[in-house]
Amino acid sequence: MSKLYKVSEALELAELIEENEIKDCARIIQKGGLVAFPTETVYGLGANAFDKDAAKKIYEAKGRPSDNPLIVHISNMEMLKMVVKEVGEDAKRLIDEFFPAPLTLIMKKSDLIPDEITSGLDTVGVRMPKNKIALALIEASGVPIAAPSANVSGRPSPTHYKHVIEDLGGRVDAILCAQDCEIGIESTILDISERDWKILRPGAIGIGDLEKFHERLSYVNFDESQKPKAPGMKYRHYSPNAEVKIVPFDMDEFSFQELIRESSKDCKVYVIDIKNSTTLAKSVFKKFREADESGYDIILVREVCGDDMSEAVMNRIRKAAGHK
Ligand code: TXA
Ligand code: MG
Repeated sequence: MSKLYKVSEALELAELIEENEIKDCARIIQKGGLVAFPTETVYGLGANAFDKDAAKKIYEAKGRPSDNPLIVHISNMEMLKMVVKEVGEDAKRLIDEFFPAPLTLIMKKSDLIPDEITSGLDTVGVRMPKNKIALALIEASGVPIAAPSANVSGRPSPTHYKHVIEDLGGRVDAILCAQDCEIGIESTILDISERDWKILRPGAIGIGDLEKFHERLSYVNFDESQKPKAPGMKYRHYSPNAEVKIVPFDMDEFSFQELIRESSKDCKVYVIDIKNSTTLAKSVFKKFREADESGYDIILVREVCGDDMSEAVMNRIRKAAGHK
C-alpha cells in the first residue's frame, strides 16, 4: 500500500523542510522511489530526475507511453543549472520574473538528465512550482524531481489527494496529501529552446504575460493532425468515462434548458455551467470525476471565452470531448 503523509499547508517553507513527513518522502525520492505530491496546478507523481530507473517506474505506475517526456521540477537556481545546458538573456529575465510559477520552460537539456526523462529528446521541460509542499519536498530531496500529473494516463488530472489514491493508491511508495490544488489545470508550457518561442500548452500564465519577454512568441497550432511539439498533446487526455459535450457560450438560457431536458430523456446528464474561467479551471477535473463516480452518461459543459484562462481550460475540455 502507498503510505499517506499529511502536512499542514499553513506552515512556512523553512518549517516544512524540517517536518518528518517531508524528510521521509525525501528519503524515498533519494532511494529511487515514487512520491505523489501537491503542486499549485495538479498533483505530480515524482521521482529523482537524475535516476533513469526511477523514471521508468513513473511510466509503469501511470501506464504512460514512453514517448511522452516528463517535466523536471526544481526548487532553486542551482538545480536549474544542473538540468539545462545554458540560460540565455531573455530566458533569464523570464525566469527572474516568473519562477516559482505554473510555467514549464522547454530548454536544451544537460547531460545529467537521462534520456528516459525526456523520451530521447535533446530538450527538457523544467518548472519551479509555487506550492510550498512541493518546494519543500524538492529542497529536502536535494535533487530535481521529475513528475507528470499523478493520474493514470488518459484520466482527468488529480486536483485533490483523494484522486491520487483513486488512480495510483498501491502503485506508489507515498502520497503527500493536501487539499484542492489552487489552479486546477496543468502549467503553461513554453518552448524557448529555439529562436521562435512557442506556447505548446496553454495554462494560467497567458500569452499576454509572456510576450514582452521575447519578440518572436506565438501559440503553436494545437491542431493535432500535425506532429505535436509537446508529445503528450497527441494522446487522449483528461477524459471521464461519460461523454463530454460542449455547449456554446452564446446559447440562450431557454435553449440550454431545452437541451438538458432533451438529453435527459434517455441519459443521466451532468451539467457544468460556470461562467468564471478561473473557477471552472479549479473545479473541472474534480467534476469530471464526480460525474463518473455517480454514473452519469453525459457531461454538458458551458463554454467560456474571452481571457487566457478560458483558452487554457477550454483546451482541456475540448480534448476531453474528443475534439482536436
Ligand atoms: O502543471 C504541470 O505541468 C503538472 C505538475 C505536476 O507540474 N505536470 C504535468 O505533467 O502536467 P504531464 O506529464 O501531465 O504533462 C507534461 C507535458 C506533456 O504533454 C509532455 O509531452 C510535455 O509536457 N513535455 C515534457 N517535456 C517536453 C519536451 N522536452 N518537449 C516538449 N514537450 C514536453
Ligand atoms: Mg498529464
